[in-house]
Amino acid sequence: MLQRIVLLLASLGCASSLATSKFKLPIVGVNPSEVAITSMSLTDQGRSDDFAKDGRPRTIMISGFSPISACRHGHLVGYMPPVTARFEDNKFAAYGLPNGTFRSLGLQTCTSNLVPKPCSSGSLPLVVFSGALATSRTLYHSMLQSVAAAGYLVVSIDHPYDADIVEFPNGTTVTGVDINDSELEDALTTRVNDIAFLYRQLAKPSLRTKLFPLHRHSGSLPKTAVVGHSFGGAAAAAAMQQLSYIRGGLNMDGSMFGSVLKTGLDRPFMLIGHDNKTQETDPSWKTVWPQLKAWKREIEVKGAAHYSFSDLPLITSVIGLQEKLPIEVEQVLGSIEGRRMMDLTVTYVTAFLDMVLRHGSEKAFVRADKNFTEVVVVA
Ligand SMILES: *[C@@H]1O[C@H](CO)[C@@H](O)[C@H](O)[C@H]1NC(C)=O
Ligand SMILES: *[C@@H]1O[C@H](CO)[C@@H](O)[C@H](O)[C@H]1NC(C)=O
Ligand SMILES: *[C@@H]1O[C@H](CO)[C@@H](O)[C@H](O)[C@H]1NC(C)=O
Ligand SMILES: *[C@@H]1O[C@H](CO)[C@@H](O)[C@H](O)[C@H]1NC(C)=O
Ligand SMILES: *[C@@H]1O[C@H](CO)[C@@H](O)[C@H](O)[C@H]1NC(C)=O
Repeated sequence: MLQRIVLLLASLGCASSLATSKFKLPIVGVNPSEVAITSMSLTDQGRSDDFAKDGRPRTIMISGFSPISACRHGHLVGYMPPVTARFEDNKFAAYGLPNGTFRSLGLQTCTSNLVPKPCSSGSLPLVVFSGALATSRTLYHSMLQSVAAAGYLVVSIDHPYDADIVEFPNGTTVTGVDINDSELEDALTTRVNDIAFLYRQLAKPSLRTKLFPLHRHSGSLPKTAVVGHSFGGAAAAAAMQQLSYIRGGLNMDGSMFGSVLKTGLDRPFMLIGHDNKTQETDPSWKTVWPQLKAWKREIEVKGAAHYSFSDLPLITSVIGLQEKLPIEVEQVLGSIEGRRMMDLTVTYVTAFLDMVLRHGSEKAFVRADKNFTEVVVVA
């Protein structure tokens, strides 16, 4: 496996070793700006960790993405922190990804502004992202960088023990536990509590200054929405139910759980499904649909599979392996070319966010539907 990627690097004219070579994952979208990326841990002293069962306070990891229109200095950072990259390299070897893939990827981060004083973040809305069960938040960071580049402050969140691995700044890690069906509702409650805690922290300008350091922050929380993939999509709906200041939610490919099935939502909510995941095939979507009382839309992406809504298709495309992966992988990553799939996801996510957090108009959806013939508007 390693040989394959070294060969690949050699053929691209990269003489250096895998460890120092980096494939930069591109920012996609219309008028993208550069993005500053940060990460940190947050400890909730008011809540013990139900998974750890030893009374320790719940600690989460988050990353922040903020758009910088006039960047002076930037550099490439590892796509994942080192222990996580090794862990995911081992895990995804089973899917035919060459060992070393995640260690070889980078994201461009902006570290200083051209203008001497930080720009005001006043008009930038806020987006919180929660990913799939047993999945690192970092596996969405290329997508979230592109969403931020479109003019959003974005925060990704890892839910320890439910994520496959969480790596803290001091180098310690928490690996995931198996969560069976009867434990899902508790895991969902933990996620919602994590999101509620995060919002309480974000209400403080000092935390926003740490997370988005090249902007000036004051006053209360900007307009906010929550986006999730898979179980994170269910968490988006559940969080909206509890937190009235969340203006909208987007669920990518996640079945719905909990009380939202009965009580529904009174703010905009969108469902994006992979090929054949619709109200007709997912009973929880069928149940929740009439309970969604505000703006709602459901789309199906033909040719997409469950992990199409992560960075994986883009990654396999960027390292030049998308055509060479085993057929079983297509069942997980879909058949849409990786850059196009990323463009599709970012376009629809930002179309939703623009409508809910900016101008209230569906015009971006009209343009998106013209460009992406894979997309079927189901309802
Ligand atoms: C991946 O490579 C590392 C060393 O770089 C090695 O320790 C590990 O066992 C390899 N994993 C697989 C699945 O081959
Ligand atoms: C590392 O950080 C985590 C999260 O804040 C904390 O739970 C853990 O105790 C720390 N470990 C050490 C050795 O400092
Ligand atoms: C799920 O896991 C919990 C904790 O490990 C266990 O107590 C419970 O019996 C399991 N339930 C099922 C249905 O397997
Ligand atoms: C979706 O359903 C159609 C018709 O039942 C079938 O031909 C197709 O293979 C299915 N696609 C996927 C991705 O399951
Ligand atoms: C649609 O495609 C055109 C041509 O490639 C591009 O210029 C435009 O930005 C795209 N629009 C969206 C919403 O992606």
